[in-house]
Amino acid sequence: MGKLDGRVVLVTGAARGQGEQEARLFAAEGARVVVADVLVEQGEALARELGESVARFVRLDVGSEEDWAAAVAEAGEAFGKIDGLVNNAGILRFNELVDTPLAEFEQVVRVNMTGAFLGIRAVAPQIEAAGGGTIVNTSSYTGLTGMPLVGAYAATKHAVLGLTKVAAMELAGKGIRVNAVCPGAVDTAMTNPALLDPDAGPTTSGAALEAYYRKLLPMGRIGRPEEVAALVLFLTCDDSSYITGQPFVVDGGWLAGVSPF
Ligand SMILES: NC(=O)c1ccc[n+]([C@@H]2O[C@H](COP(=O)([O-])OP(=O)(O)OC[C@H]3O[C@@H](n4cnc5c(N)ncnc54)[C@H](O)[C@@H]3O)[C@@H](O)[C@H]2O)c1
Repeated sequence: MGKLDGRVVLVTGAARGQGEQEARLFAAEGARVVVADVLVEQGEALARELGESVARFVRLDVGSEEDWAAAVAEAGEAFGKIDGLVNNAGILRFNELVDTPLAEFEQVVRVNMTGAFLGIRAVAPQIEAAGGGTIVNTSSYTGLTGMPLVGAYAATKHAVLGLTKVAAMELAGKGIRVNAVCPGAVDTAMTNPALLDPDAGPTTSGAALEAYYRKLLPMGRIGRPEEVAALVLFLTCDDSSYITGQPFVVDGGWLAGVSPF
């Protein structure tokens, strides 16, 4: 028995990184998965690997209302229903606030915040029609605290937690639980060594990065995307049946405090 037997879950940004691991884990736990992303080649390859009866790739730009309508229709056609959504797609841009061009700020808002809003709005009625289910939004460590150079990103990740709480309250009566995950530093394409340690320059080596995380994080290492996927699975399956409206931190202890040593 898988933890998601009979479920159909749409994961955005599922072509690589955390979303890919979520799609893989959900499929292993018995779900059928809609792999949604703007990366067509990688998304199609993943869906093919998981198998036609288990996964379907849809090209979805989460900032587009039209794409959401088409993705929901395609998911319904492929698997007959949707009863789970993971709003995982996201982008990160580094800039000081006073240097951030409006277009860059709006681009981050469009994907990280508007994308999550459009996803909830498009999919919640489908989940209700399926008899209830779950939504997991992807916030961040920077959804709970500040960090220089990521103003647009942090603003959207704080906003995702606001959306999560309101959606949880509005959708609880419809049988839909809505929670959020707040990953710390996770080893994906998004975590660019040179940007994490500006002093190290663009040629930061793996060893320098390991030393950086050893110092920064109580657990001494960067997180693996599978470790975020395990939390998202918990929030998507019945193990979390009485939990809604909450942020869950998965960060190797980063937010536990600031060490003076
Ligand atoms: N990696 C980290 O350290 C970290 C930390 C905290 C939060 N997060 C969040 O986790 C989520 C996953 O990020 P990741 O680390 O796997 O990075 P990633 O860059 O590997 O994956 C992000 C995915 O989102 C997709 N995407 C980007 N714009 C999109 C759009 N408009 N429509 C649809 N898909 C789009 C990308 O193509 C990619 O597949 C993001 O929301 C990110 O903000 C990551």
